[in-house]
Amino acid sequence: MTKHDTSGLSLDPRHPKGASPVTDGIRSGLAQYGDAGLSFFLRKAFIKAMGYSDEALERPIVAITDTFSGYNGCHRTVPDLIAAIERGVMHAGGLPIRFPTISIHESFSHPTSMFLRNLMAMDTEEMVRAQPMDAVVLIGGCDKTVPALLMGAASAGIPAIMEVTGPMMTGHFRGERLGACTDCRRLWSLYRAGDMDEAEIELAGGRLMPTAGTCMVMGTASTMALMTETVGMMLPGGAAIPAVHADRLRHAEATGARAVALAADGLTPDRIMTPAAFENAFRMLLAVGGSTNGLIHMAAVAGRLGIEVDLAAIDRMGRETPVLVDLKPSGRHYMEDLHRAGGAAPILKELRGMLNLGALTVTGRTLGEEIDRAAEEHPEQAVVRPMSDPVWPEGGLAVLRGTLAPDTAVIKQSAASPELLAHEGRAVVFDGLEDLAARIDDPDLDVARDDILVLRNAGPKGAPGMPEAGSMPIPKKLAAEGVRDMVRISDARMSGTAFGTIVLHCCPEAAVGGPLALVRTGDRIRLDTPARRLDLLVDEAALAARRRDWRPPVHAGSQRGYLKLYLETVTQADRGCDFDFMAKAASPEAV
Ligand code: FES
Repeated sequence: MTKHDTSGLSLDPRHPKGASPVTDGIRSGLAQYGDAGLSFFLRKAFIKAMGYSDEALERPIVAITDTFSGYNGCHRTVPDLIAAIERGVMHAGGLPIRFPTISIHESFSHPTSMFLRNLMAMDTEEMVRAQPMDAVVLIGGCDKTVPALLMGAASAGIPAIMEVTGPMMTGHFRGERLGACTDCRRLWSLYRAGDMDEAEIELAGGRLMPTAGTCMVMGTASTMALMTETVGMMLPGGAAIPAVHADRLRHAEATGARAVALAADGLTPDRIMTPAAFENAFRMLLAVGGSTNGLIHMAAVAGRLGIEVDLAAIDRMGRETPVLVDLKPSGRHYMEDLHRAGGAAPILKELRGMLNLGALTVTGRTLGEEIDRAAEEHPEQAVVRPMSDPVWPEGGLAVLRGTLAPDTAVIKQSAASPELLAHEGRAVVFDGLEDLAARIDDPDLDVARDDILVLRNAGPKGAPGMPEAGSMPIPKKLAAEGVRDMVRISDARMSGTAFGTIVLHCCPEAAVGGPLALVRTGDRIRLDTPARRLDLLVDEAALAARRRDWRPPVHAGSQRGYLKLYLETVTQADRGCDFDFMAKAASPEAV
């Protein structure tokens, strides 16, 4: 190939000027014109327009996902994080280049953020694959962004490292500490019950989220951050640092520097996120009383690496893993308190005997080595309890099976009312979100406090997008009588910040003909959490007759675009709700 090297940077995409490259840098993944020399010549000409020097372009490239969005307050600090990451990359001898990806916020995503998670994962995967980079720093935070970025990075297969935006600080209302969104839901329940007036709920609403950052209770964002650190994809100490804390920027700077080393080492996500590492992450989920969404998201990430998650095994782990973290909604504290207590480290120290200590992390050291290196932050802290005095004797989550959920359902028992964990009652059925909204507060609704509320057609395909609607409101007339919890069953998800005796993720969902589709108001249902059972007490002959009359729901607009792709290929909750063609062929090992 003829070279026209007048700028100090070799035009041969395979060989830079001087020594052999450690990384491919700017030469990787050329646009195809049938002439690699031309492709690289054009690339170099265009990138020169960005003002880079030849010396800069010789460096390993660390790309940074820019997930800032004017619609995403949880990611408000992303520009500051990028600046800190860039600093770290440059100090370590790399060239940082940021690029945009989809950003998803819970409250600004119609119909649901879950509907868009797979789109963000595909966007991330393809843009990582398409653009020249030797490593990528993933900036996530809000619920769906962390799993989407991990899914995309797992499939793209280049060295990757996560930096989360970090949790918000707590708010205050009339002397009380507030945490989003556990207190959003609690205060709204008080308002619905008539215990707060319009002015009070308005005032409280303005104080629930006082800073940038993610929800500061043990919701999905906090759960995913702790699971990401435990699975080994984030530098130690990163999960709990508040978004507005200076430590967050120092962690980001270190992350940028580490990304340069990852590029040189070629340490790819599949070497970190192994079955042993996922098992560690699920231990963390159970020990923190984390969000049920953590199960779905990590199953999807594992699926990208050909690792199947066995929910029965996670339930067995749950029986021996106590809840150690005293954080809302299961406990009393908030993420800023966990940061002061040392973040993930004291939890990992308590769990040490249950963890796969040899699992590799992005530091290049094992999880066991990282636990040994972690300083004891605050011996007197009260947020992380010892194994001998847990918040809850078993793991936060239990996996149920039975005639109402042949392929599993999930309950967050640590956030439930203990007296309702084993309960038989009469079903009161809602056919979907519209039906629920139309009838739940009807004064004539035939419902009593011992009944079981059932919501269907709210699963991955049913809603579509599996909304966080599983924590159905208590019917207004019962709320006014002081009823604060009832058994509620659905194929929906639930915010990790919610609480109550709520059975979720019934598989298969009603929209694909699961038994939930056949329940009628007046049927008896038995929930037996200690026995891990969920049963519809209706004989098979009656169900067979109902099944003959059943028709799947039809969604407007489902004949084109992303909705068509989504409805045709999204999997059930027990498989992570990823698209069926995105998982890697399963390996023999399973979690
Ligand atoms: Fe973004 Fe809660 S809405 S983390």
